[in-house]
Amino acid sequence: MSTLTNDAQQTSGDQNRGSDQNPGSAQNRGSAQNHGAAVGLTADKITIRGGIPLVGRIEVKGAKNLVTKAMVAALLGETPSLLQDVPNISDVRIVRGLLEVHGVKVTEGDEPGDLILDPVGVESAHFAAIDAHAGSSRIPILFCGPLLHRLGEAFIPDLGGCRIGDRPIDFHLDVLRKFGAVVEKQPNGIRMSAPNGLKGTKVELPYPSVGATEQVLLTAVRAEGITELKGAAIEPEIMDLINILQKMGAIITVDTDRVIRIEGVERLEGYRHRALFDRNEAASWAAAALATDGDIFVGGARQSEMLTFLNVFRKVGGAFEIHDDGIRFYHPGGVLKPVIIETDVHPGFMTDWQQPLVIALTKAHGTSIVHETVYEQRFGFVDALVEMGATIQIHRECLGGHPCRFGQRNFNHSAVITGPTKLHGADIVVPDLRGGFSHLIAALSADGASTVSNVGIISRGYENFITKLRLLGADFDLEG
Ligand code: EPZ
Repeated sequence: MSTLTNDAQQTSGDQNRGSDQNPGSAQNRGSAQNHGAAVGLTADKITIRGGIPLVGRIEVKGAKNLVTKAMVAALLGETPSLLQDVPNISDVRIVRGLLEVHGVKVTEGDEPGDLILDPVGVESAHFAAIDAHAGSSRIPILFCGPLLHRLGEAFIPDLGGCRIGDRPIDFHLDVLRKFGAVVEKQPNGIRMSAPNGLKGTKVELPYPSVGATEQVLLTAVRAEGITELKGAAIEPEIMDLINILQKMGAIITVDTDRVIRIEGVERLEGYRHRALFDRNEAASWAAAALATDGDIFVGGARQSEMLTFLNVFRKVGGAFEIHDDGIRFYHPGGVLKPVIIETDVHPGFMTDWQQPLVIALTKAHGTSIVHETVYEQRFGFVDALVEMGATIQIHRECLGGHPCRFGQRNFNHSAVITGPTKLHGADIVVPDLRGGFSHLIAALSADGASTVSNVGIISRGYENFITKLRLLGADFDLEG
């Protein structure tokens, strides 16, 4: 039975500062504990006794990778916005802090998960205040377009983000310059101004970057004239952000060839929007069900945004039932089968889905391959799995699919997983958000006890995951 502190309440005013180091910023912004502390998780180490199937029902709320951008979009409105199904995660608290230092009034609405965002009092913020709230988030770069429209200036500190690659922002800066922004690198960040306002432009992205697509959308909707974006990302979270912007008064078309056109408008109003569910969290719990021989109903999950995941889940040997209010994911018995996965942009297999699923692949009878084509260094998490008894080799070559942009460079971006192997307990330190959740799954499916440290990072993207583990029957203690 677990002993735990209730991580459900949300502490106020305790601004978390991320622990993720982004090599680019070479700056550790604080301890992971602060991540968890900001959402009420008072421990940073968990001892898990594995081997128990996870069974039960949990609910997923709004997607971390939509909600944080929707909060920024509220800056563009002349009136308040209402965002619904906002999860209690530290990335939301980081963006809330950043909005508040810029004079946006953020208050809870009537229903749980409602946030009211009132941008009427927007003002410039001092660098130190921005830096104090930026944490390990990459979201500050998306404040630039809206702030340049409202205030004519913006400042962003050096950015953080999980250690899954260099996490550059070159696409973002190129986009902002094309709109007419003046970008000045300063010792501790980047200052921007728009002396002649922002004008519609033509952009072609070298890679369908989610963040850079959001940068174009958040800047173009109020720019003068028409913007054409070629090579856009079209992830469900992007489409939901477009839904929000259209509700605000924007005019946006999405063509079949990944070309997005935006007609700038004079004025945008606040929106009322229920956020798209978090398909990454849903896939993570589905992977946990498979790896622990369990049966988890994920309330709020929807089939259409998880189509590719569901195909792979079935090919590995998992079973699922689509219901009106969620999806049941379970291990139907029998042996798990190896698969070849190539991560890609939407509608391909999402890069954030591969880490949690790798644990089930260590139990599959045969050899699986994961070719990670979105991030260059996203297999750091496998070291701990090998220590627990997994047989996983990492390679620089593009294995199992088409050559990708990392193929001819020195990046270990393909993994070969040979099973079945039994995992045994170990001491693990969580490296990043999705890798961290895969470590929880590994500990839950291993023989014996494991201690997982630095779990505060997991609070960045998984709401009340300790409470959910308890609901699903996991056996663990929180420490520290
Ligand atoms: C978003 O990151 C998500 N994060 C990621 O989820 C997700 O994995 C990723 O999109 C891909 O779907 C948020 O939305 C907060 P990208 P983002 O720009 O926008 C390169 C999670 O765990 N690139 O599509 O940063 C970049 O290095 C996180 O929830 C540049 O080279 O992703 C990467 O190789 C992890 N220059 C590729 O593009 C740039 O200026 C994809 O990045 C920007 C990106």
